[in-house]
Amino acid sequence: MATATIPGYRMGDPTLPEPALDETAMADLRAALLLSDDDLVALRDAAAIVDARVDELLDVWYGFVGSHPFLLESFATPDGPNADYLARVRARFGQWVRDTLSADFGPAWVAYQEEVGRRHAAGKNATDGVVGAPEVVPFRYVVALVYPIYATIRPFLASGARDEAHLEAMHQAWLKAVLLNVAIWSGAYVRDDWR
Ligand code: HEM
Repeated sequence: MATATIPGYRMGDPTLPEPALDETAMADLRAALLLSDDDLVALRDAAAIVDARVDELLDVWYGFVGSHPFLLESFATPDGPNADYLARVRARFGQWVRDTLSADFGPAWVAYQEEVGRRHAAGKNATDGVVGAPEVVPFRYVVALVYPIYATIRPFLASGARDEAHLEAMHQAWLKAVLLNVAIWSGAYVRDDWR
């Protein structure tokens, strides 16, 4: 799907707030995660494999959320799970997979990831005009979901890996990239001077 047609998607939007994490802070965060230039190469390799199968991947992840009522609750109003909300987020989630696999981790990327963090916290529901859903995604589940998002991509990567070492390199790079996202998003949940 062309990014211009994804409602609510704002990567590169100059009206987003300036990122709180500047280039030095990002370099330090990447260093803390051992996220190297080799990982960027592995992410690009993963992009080439996963790109055509993002929808299948989302089926797995949405299946996971949908089968755990305490997760699905974040998408529910008193009338039950909100299908429009789920569908609109799904389109942006697919783009996030592609953006993460091709990220340069530069200021525009960081600015949008800080926005994605806010959308899980104080800015939840606003993008899609949802009324009656919980006002925040509990942060403990955001952290916990890193594991299934990491584990379940492995068979997809395996389908295009050259060998076991290549698979491992792509899988570890993906874990670091997801953790980098969640580390940035944590800023929406903590005091500014604690991020
Ligand atoms: C590693 C963990 C997670 C990842 C990678 C992730 C990824 C994403 C992405 C990419 C979006 C769309 C962002 C955009 O608007 O462009 C999103 C939105 C959303 N996510 Fe997550 N998420 C995670 C954890 C969770 C958990 C645990 C829940 C709880 C069920 C959750 C519920 C939601 C909801 C409700 C939205 C829509 C927020 C809004 O109203 O804008 N997420 N997530």
